[in-house]
Amino acid sequence: MRNLSFLILLLLFFNCQEASKKIKNIDNNRGLVTDQAMVVSAREEASKIGSQILELGGNAFDAMMATEMALAVTYPYAGNLGGGGFLVYRLADGEIGALDYREKAPLEATKDMYLDKDGNVIKNKSTVGPLAIGVPGTIAGIFKAQERFGKLDVKTILQPVIDLANNGFSITKQQEERFTSYDSIFKAVNNKEIPFNSSLKAGNKIQNTSLANTLKRIATNGRDEFYKGETAKVLVDFLQDKGSIITLEDLAKYEAKWRTPIQFQYDDLTITSMSPPSSGGVCLNQIMTMVEDFDLSGYGHNSLKTIQVLVEAEKRAYADRSYYLGDPDFVDIPIETLTSSVYLDERMNDFSFVVATAVDSISHGKIIGYESEETTHYSIVDQFGNAIAVTTTLNGGYGSKVYANELGFFLNNEMDDFSSKPGEPNYYGLIGAEANSIAPEKRMLSSMTPTIVEKDGELFMTLGTPGGSTIITSVLQTILNVHEFNMTMQEAVNAPRFHNQWLPDEIRMEPNSFSDDLKNQLKTKGYIINEKRTPVIGKVDGILILENGKLEGGADKRGDDTAIGF
Ligand code: DON
Repeated sequence: MRNLSFLILLLLFFNCQEASKKIKNIDNNRGLVTDQAMVVSAREEASKIGSQILELGGNAFDAMMATEMALAVTYPYAGNLGGGGFLVYRLADGEIGALDYREKAPLEATKDMYLDKDGNVIKNKSTVGPLAIGVPGTIAGIFKAQERFGKLDVKTILQPVIDLANNGFSITKQQEERFTSYDSIFKAVNNKEIPFNSSLKAGNKIQNTSLANTLKRIATNGRDEFYKGETAKVLVDFLQDKGSIITLEDLAKYEAKWRTPIQFQYDDLTITSMSPPSSGGVCLNQIMTMVEDFDLSGYGHNSLKTIQVLVEAEKRAYADRSYYLGDPDFVDIPIETLTSSVYLDERMNDFSFVVATAVDSISHGKIIGYESEETTHYSIVDQFGNAIAVTTTLNGGYGSKVYANELGFFLNNEMDDFSSKPGEPNYYGLIGAEANSIAPEKRMLSSMTPTIVEKDGELFMTLGTPGGSTIITSVLQTILNVHEFNMTMQEAVNAPRFHNQWLPDEIRMEPNSFSDDLKNQLKTKGYIINEKRTPVIGKVDGILILENGKLEGGADKRGDDTAIGF
């Protein structure tokens, strides 16, 4: 017995040594380094197809169409035709822009559609099943971007994706676990077994010929196939049969929209990120401006003081988010004031290193003269010097869980990103107000933060992540990890993350990543620590331009994410 205990101890010791060696190696290593071009996404197959399109002479926008659709094939958890997203771009000549292909509320949506007769939120109505679905924007988005900037024809771009769907792709271990845990909800929502179920094991191949056929029709007939053609009819028949309020008119009226991105300075960095209807750019701008004058690099990475400063700035930004932000086509957002240094200095006035600022003393700032969870992000830099950051989502893992069998894809549950009732938290615990209430054709507020960073006027980084409300703070920490703490792109992506969003009143931390001593010091100052909500925070995918002009990929190993390029 004593011998056995000794053996176990010895094994544990070697295991720990091995683990620390691995972590050290990862920390010291850069991610993939290439000379000219790179795609970093949640799946190897998607990065590979994107990179092949670049090698064929396509640019970042051609690769966007291919990568996005390859993610829809291989990563149905978040890759999609039935969802929406945001693109931020920087062309080789420095021109920047943003595209909003966020889902919209259907024409028949109403402000109180998720409330019972007593005005209480009906559980799950905005998250699961047909009424959770917003009008999808993805196909409109990838076509709008490719038509304006792309170089190749759509058939050339989509053919490898169609082949992938026909020939099948390998299930990863993480996918096996997800298909198993979602099996029963898929059956319950769809009243039958769907092709993604617990019988699929890691290493098995799965084909999706229905999706291949849908993509083939889209490749032949263009974007309108999805919004006005046979695909639209099949989709609406299916959805209405399930009890959705989405009509052919909803699809026909959908348009992706060019938006002016949010742009701001932080030290010698110029940061370009997504504008409303995403809160990402505004909140990132607010937080970075609030923390800019603090000596973060002096305090140290994930040190007590750095965490305090970031958390307190995050609290204030998320409080503003909850009150002021929504679809800019429906509400006036005082962006200029919210992002001005005068206003933000004032917001941080009551910050103290001694004690946490109480959440109920924060609320939104006063402005006088008013003006599981899954998403996926990919970053691309092409051989011509164009860079894109794209975050796309079904909202929750597999969205509403409603699966259009004949078309081969899941539908989103993005309606939950609206505020069903003022002050009532959504799935991500986010509180909303009138600015983000439901109205026909309105876009629900997002946290997606596709971001491009320039340094001294040159392209420096493109990045983003899934993670619901934690997206903004994961992007923030990754930029700071490179800029303030001198990490490589891969180290910046690997580093443990924490998150605060004002309400609930807690610092969410990745488990087993922060020392007890640090956590105790934070608790002494009045902070509540939660390491239980999610095993990981975000899956950041980014590309950093190195001093020698080469590209370094940061592919988050929290997922199956992979960088490929040449
Ligand atoms: O737009 C948003 O902010 C959410 N629908 C994003 C959801 C998400 O990131 C889920 N991923 N973990």
